[in-house]
Amino acid sequence: MEERLIYFDNAATVWPKPESVYRFMDQFFRTHGVNPGRSGYDLAIEAGTLLDKTRKRLTKFFGGDEEAPERLVFGYNVSDALNLAIPGLIGRGDHVITTNLEHNSVIRPVNHMVRDHGAEATFVPCNRQGFIEPDAIRQAIRRNTRVVIMNHGSNVIGTVQPLQEIGTVCREHGITFVVDTAQTAGVIPIHMREMNIDVLAFTGHKALMGSMGIGGLCVGKHVAIRQVRSGGTGVRSADLYHLEEYPWRLEYGTPNLPGIASLWAGQDWLDEHGIENIHRQEMALARKLVDGLQKIEGVKLYCCDSLDDHLSTILMNLEGVDPGDVGVMLDVDHNIATRTGLHCAPLVHKQLGTESTHGGVRFSIGAFNTEEDVAAAIAAIEDIAEWAHERQSKKQVARMTS
Ligand SMILES: Cc1ncc(COP(=O)(O)O)c(C=O)c1O
Repeated sequence: MEERLIYFDNAATVWPKPESVYRFMDQFFRTHGVNPGRSGYDLAIEAGTLLDKTRKRLTKFFGGDEEAPERLVFGYNVSDALNLAIPGLIGRGDHVITTNLEHNSVIRPVNHMVRDHGAEATFVPCNRQGFIEPDAIRQAIRRNTRVVIMNHGSNVIGTVQPLQEIGTVCREHGITFVVDTAQTAGVIPIHMREMNIDVLAFTGHKALMGSMGIGGLCVGKHVAIRQVRSGGTGVRSADLYHLEEYPWRLEYGTPNLPGIASLWAGQDWLDEHGIENIHRQEMALARKLVDGLQKIEGVKLYCCDSLDDHLSTILMNLEGVDPGDVGVMLDVDHNIATRTGLHCAPLVHKQLGTESTHGGVRFSIGAFNTEEDVAAAIAAIEDIAEWAHERQSKKQVARMTS
């Protein structure tokens, strides 16, 4: 068995992070770990400067409105950001369109708006290849549709959605287009204005190469989001109500400064390596993995006949073996970390028919995986398939002789 852990759970969180990110976070936290934007001494101003510079840099990175960087607001993660955007945009009597590919970070807040606050929702299914068709969105539009919200890349089957086309449909109908970029920020170039994205939600701990506990929203200049939470802002303290202006409108309390520092260092690393190069390398490994798995008897792969418009996230099952058991064998016998089950996205598993069989086994390849890792994964699945085959044969013999 491999001594080192082979990590294929990058869709959950990218790990490890670049050395330069660890170093910068550590150094910045030690030297500037004071409360930014609250006081006038030099260190507090310097800490606040990194925060402002990171707003600007990420706004540019996402193709947002560079003249309004204060509309990039920080929160804890993409779930937190979506929990600001969804109730801030949808109200009683409003209709929202979303999809079967969503993570619970969209499904649950949308369903709460429906059950608890009188909104309406339509969940559009993906096609057989795992894509949301712009026409399906168009057909779901009603007179009271206010928002379309969907992810850019699926965390279960890895398909990348045609945002630009869907954004155009939204623009034509005056509908706000909200995109969850958890799986694609730092993987695939995103341009809010070119793709007609009105509100972009991001999380720091995946391919943006930052730490856990940092994420946020980038809000287009023309978009009005109601402020739904409140607290200290460090400015205008005499005001007994939360500020209307950005960034305070959607921020409250002490920000996660080490997390923001990690995003800054993550941007440096992405600039140095180039996200297209990293993605190309990840997809070459994904191709090898799919080719290897396809040859193993009993393996079923989902939505990866073509890896065009695809992330390096591959979902599989092994006939006759519970995906949870495959995951345990990969872990215990082969030191390989994957994620099994429903991946917090029950509707896509339901559509694939895997919900009732406990989901699937997800290999998610990251920037630090190697060809050896992929070869080890294929060999491990071969091993488990062989064991499953023998078990099946023994069962048959036992049935025949009993
Ligand atoms: C598509 C998608 N949306 C949302 C999330 C939630 O991310 P976070 O836990 O950072 O809020 C994930 C996490 O895997 C995801 O893949």
